[in-house]
Formats: sequence, C-alpha cells, structure tokens
Amino acid sequence: MSTKLIETSLSLMVWLVIATSAIAQSDNPPVLDTEGHPLEPGRDYYITPAVTDIGGRATIVDNGTCPLFVGQENTFVEESFAVFFTPFAKEDDVVKVNRDFQVAFSAATLCLQGTGWTLGERDTESGRRLIVVGGVGSYFRISETQVKGVYNIGWCPIDVCPFCKFDCGIVGGLRENKKIFLALDGNVLPVVFERA
Ligand SMILES: *[C@@H]1O[C@H](CO)[C@@H](O)[C@H](O)[C@H]1NC(C)=O
Repeated sequence: MSTKLIETSLSLMVWLVIATSAIAQSDNPPVLDTEGHPLEPGRDYYITPAVTDIGGRATIVDNGTCPLFVGQENTFVEESFAVFFTPFAKEDDVVKVNRDFQVAFSAATLCLQGTGWTLGERDTESGRRLIVVGGVGSYFRISETQVKGVYNIGWCPIDVCPFCKFDCGIVGGLRENKKIFLALDGNVLPVVFERA
C-alpha cells in the first residue's frame, strides 16, 4: 500500500468518526421551560396550555376503567401531575426540539401499568388516536411553534425507526363527557413547560 493511499484511508476514517458523532449529537436546539432553561431529562415539569380557555395542565384522566388516559384538567389547578422526559438518544443531555423521548407522569397509579405515555386505541366517537397511561411507552417529540417558548407535542418516532413510515400526529385536547383527553389527529394544543 502506498503512503498516499494509507493517508487517504486514514483521513476517510477520521471523517467517518466525526460524521457519525455529528449525527448522534444533533444540533437541534433545546426545548426551553418558561424561565428559558433547557428541559432536563428526569426533572419534573408541568405541561401547561399556552393560552387560556382550552383546559388546564396535562394530567391523568380516569374514565372508569383501566387503562387511564392522558388528558387535561378542566381548569387550572396548582396540584396537577408533573411529567419527566427520557430522551431516546442517550447522548442528549437536554430535551431537544424534534428528537424522540419517552414521557411519564411522576406518580403511581392504581392501574399498576406504569405511568409512561403510550399511543392507544382510536376513540370510538371521534376516531382520534388517544394517549393512555402505562403500557410499552411510546416515543413522542416536541416541535416549535411561531411563538418562542411555546411548543406542540407530537408523535413521529423517526429517531427510533428512521426508515419506518408513520402516520404522524400532533397532540390536542379532545372534549368528551366533561373530560378532556389528549389525542392526535385533530385540534392542536400549544403548550409551555413549567418546572415543578
Ligand atoms: C369514557 O367512558 C364513556 C362511558 O363508558 C364512553 O362512552 C367513552 O367512549 C369513554 N371515552 C374514552 C376516551 O374511552
């Protein structure tokens, strides 16, 4: 092998290492809480609507049977359930925009199925896909809106499966029988994240 060839293959290897770590690191900006700090994995936050009159904070909604549902308080209450995030990419030390994570309520439930958010069945009336508490734990992601610090939560786990085709969706509130469930495929809920 000539020196030139060895040099070329060495620089190619270096380039590959740099390129691979660049993909893993991701330059996506962090998601910010209401005080402008990046969301930290494992820390507790409230998910609060960014505007009034569209229900209260994200909470656990009991519809009479297990599983419980991810939903919203009907009005603003101080004592709601906080959530914590676990990024899919182990090297993400903060929660980043458009990156997959799991999210779970910082609480125990009587259904004994865990507190992670999982994409569930379609609601029989609206056909919208509901989000349930417990189960395998789906990967969600946060996207930016046009307002700084205001975000949408969506489901589109392409970090987990880059070549999969997903019927992606964004989370919004679904009102039914005086309850508010969180569901994809309809209106969209703008939210902020408050440190609990
Ligand atoms: C909640 O319970 C009611 C009454 O059993 C039922 O009609 C409705 O479909 C349930 N909602 C969801 C989201 O499962």
